[in-house]
Amino acid sequence: MSAPNKSYDPVEVEALKPEQIERMRDEAVAAVAAASDLDELREVKAAHAGDRSPLALANREIAALPPHAKADAGKRVGQARGAVNKALAARQGELEAERDARVLVEEAVDVTLSYDRRPAGARHPMTTFADRIADVFTALGYRVAEGPEVETEWFNFDALNFPPDHPAREMQDTFFVRGADGGEDSGLVLRTHTSPVQIRSMIDSEPPLYVVCPGRVYRTDELDATHTPVFTQVELLAVDEGLTMADLKGTLDHMVGALFGEGMRTRLRPNFFPFTEPSAEMDMVCYVCRGESVGNPDRPCRTCSSEGWIELGGCGMVNPRVLTACGIDPDKYSGFAFGFGIERMLMFRHNIEDMRDIVEGDVRFTLPFGMEI
Ligand code: FA5
Repeated sequence: MSAPNKSYDPVEVEALKPEQIERMRDEAVAAVAAASDLDELREVKAAHAGDRSPLALANREIAALPPHAKADAGKRVGQARGAVNKALAARQGELEAERDARVLVEEAVDVTLSYDRRPAGARHPMTTFADRIADVFTALGYRVAEGPEVETEWFNFDALNFPPDHPAREMQDTFFVRGADGGEDSGLVLRTHTSPVQIRSMIDSEPPLYVVCPGRVYRTDELDATHTPVFTQVELLAVDEGLTMADLKGTLDHMVGALFGEGMRTRLRPNFFPFTEPSAEMDMVCYVCRGESVGNPDRPCRTCSSEGWIELGGCGMVNPRVLTACGIDPDKYSGFAFGFGIERMLMFRHNIEDMRDIVEGDVRFTLPFGMEI
């Protein structure tokens, strides 16, 4: 850098001579124009507008000039640097536009190409619905319990107070398991309902007891629009001091509200199950017509046959004889239980007309349910 010199004119400082400044500016502008891509332009910028560029170095010389000469020299250098920066910005814009246009062509996606990826699998609606039902009860403090699908006759029938001659035990309902010797009398069956899990839970744990038991069950029913020989039930059991039918009814109403939406109600109709006393059949207001089809021939409902109610399953207060068989004092504790088929509930919920669609595994049926996790 030159030392201050009062008698100097800026034209006498070599780097600040007008022709030198013009040369630096012209060289810079030419280099900018010649840059063919953004990387080259970055290098040109460093060389002609960076801290070590000729114009930046010339700018530093201004400090050494006498005050009266600084303004002129400063103006000259400033204008030259401004021209270079303007050229840089313009070229940057041009090169970016060129790059974007090129990328659009090079990275274009041919949406007409055939679809060659395997579709991702999803959980079956039965699985997600069974989980959702269990979630409703675990949120209330129930725990999930499971039991074997090949069950002893004692757990499936005797402990549940089924008399030896109860029709449910007969061949038309129950799959009996042959013994290892090929004989008929192995004492084992494919469980016909999830109620044996009640017994296992009561034998395994002391009250208070709150369990929800989802699981697969088997009956010798033909596969048709409303039956399948392998289906899924959910069983609920609560045993505690002071439980009444009112607790059962409140729990059922909570469940249908949580699964079908606010305002859904249940009703109980007297029924008989050997393991509950009193026992009831549990109906829910028809999810499709909400009861509006009753007495209204203009609005018939196929789901509930215009009755306004749909039968969901069985329930009742646990029979004191069953509590006693499980070692629970019926004078101190009472319990309620209910059980229902999930396939039928899924049918009501999604207006599915044929149960075979649920069990046959055709992806055209499951796809509309999406990817619920
Ligand atoms: C029972 O299985 C009793 N264990 C329910 C119970 C539990 C009562 C606790 C009291 C206390 P049921 O046989 O009605 O009850 O069957 C219950 C439900 O299973 C029926 O309402 C129906 O939704 C479903 N279900 C019965 N058979 C079939 C079948 N073949 N295919 C599909 N779902 C069925």
